[in-house]
Amino acid sequence: MTDYFKDKVAVVTGAASGIGLGLTEHLLKRGASSVFMGDFNQENLEKEGKRLNDEFPGKAHPLLTDVTKLEQVESLIKKAKDFEGHLDFVFNNAGMGMTLPVEQITFDIWKMIIDLNLWGVIYGTYTAIPIMREQGFGHIVNTASIAGCVPIPYQAVYAATKSAVISMTESLQYELEVEGLQFSVFCPGNVITAIFGDLTPPPDAITVDEAVGYIFQELEKKSLSIIFPQNMRDIDKYYRENRPEFDKVARALAAERRENYRTKGTYF
Ligand SMILES: NC(=O)c1ccc[n+]([C@@H]2O[C@H](COP(=O)([O-])OP(=O)(O)OC[C@H]3O[C@@H](n4cnc5c(N)ncnc54)[C@H](O)[C@@H]3O)[C@@H](O)[C@H]2O)c1
Repeated sequence: MTDYFKDKVAVVTGAASGIGLGLTEHLLKRGASSVFMGDFNQENLEKEGKRLNDEFPGKAHPLLTDVTKLEQVESLIKKAKDFEGHLDFVFNNAGMGMTLPVEQITFDIWKMIIDLNLWGVIYGTYTAIPIMREQGFGHIVNTASIAGCVPIPYQAVYAATKSAVISMTESLQYELEVEGLQFSVFCPGNVITAIFGDLTPPPDAITVDEAVGYIFQELEKKSLSIIFPQNMRDIDKYYRENRPEFDKVARALAAERRENYRTKGTYF
C-alpha cells in the first residue's frame, strides 16, 4: 500500500450507497483529507455522511447533488477544489443498471439512462479537467461496467452508456497525460449492492470491499483500464481473442435470460 490517497481531496458521486460509499470509506481510511460525497438520495447521504464524520471528524462532506444537472456537478467539484485549494481525485461513479428487452426500452428510458450513466460522467469530467490542467495534476476515475467491454444481451441501453464511458476515458488519457493528468476507468462484473434491487445477486458477485480493494490497488499503479474480478477479465479476453466461442456464450446467455423472463418474470 502506498500513500497515494494520503492528504488528498476527492469527489465521489453516487457516494451514499454501494461502490461509491465503499470508495469514500476507503479514501478516508487511507488518509484522504476531505471527501466530497455527491448523491441525490438525501436520506442515505445524510446518514452515511454522519456515520463517516463520526469516524473521520470533518473529513466527509455530503452534498446533495443530482449528476444529471451540470450546474450541480460543477458546484460539487468547485466546492471540493476551493476547500483546500487542490482537487486530487474525481470519481464519476453515480449510475444505475438496466436489463430490459429492447421493446420495453422506451425513449424516456433511453434518455434517463444516458443522462445519468453518460452525461453524469461527462459533466464531472468536463468540470474537473480545466481545474486539473491548471494545477498540472489530478486523477479522474470513471465507473463503467463489464457490459461496456463485451456485448451482454438485454443490456443494450446500459452497454451504450458504459462503452462510451470507457472510450471517452481512455481517449482522454492519451491526450492529457502529458499535462500530468491521470485517467482510469473501472469495469466491474457483479458487485453486491443496491443495484440488484429485490433480486438475489448472482453467485459470482463479490463484495464492495473486495471490489474497492482491487480498484485502489490498480489506481495506485495508475492503471487506465481496470476490469474485475478475474472471471470478467477472462470473458473480456475471450471476446477479443476468440470471438466465435464468445458468440456461443452470449447466445446461451440470451436464451437463459429469455427463459428466466418467461418462467420467473426476471432476467436473472
Ligand atoms: N453493482 C454492480 O454489480 C455493478 C456492476 C457494474 C457497474 N456498476 C456501476 O457502479 C456504479 C455504482 O453502482 P452501485 O452498484 O454502487 O449501485 P447503488 O445503487 O448501490 O449506488 C448508486 C448510487 O448512485 C446514486 N444516484 C443515482 N442516480 C443519481 C443521480 N442522478 N445523481 C446523484 N446520485 C445518483 C444513488 O442514489 C446511489 O446512492 C454505477 O455506475 C453502476 O453502473 C455496478
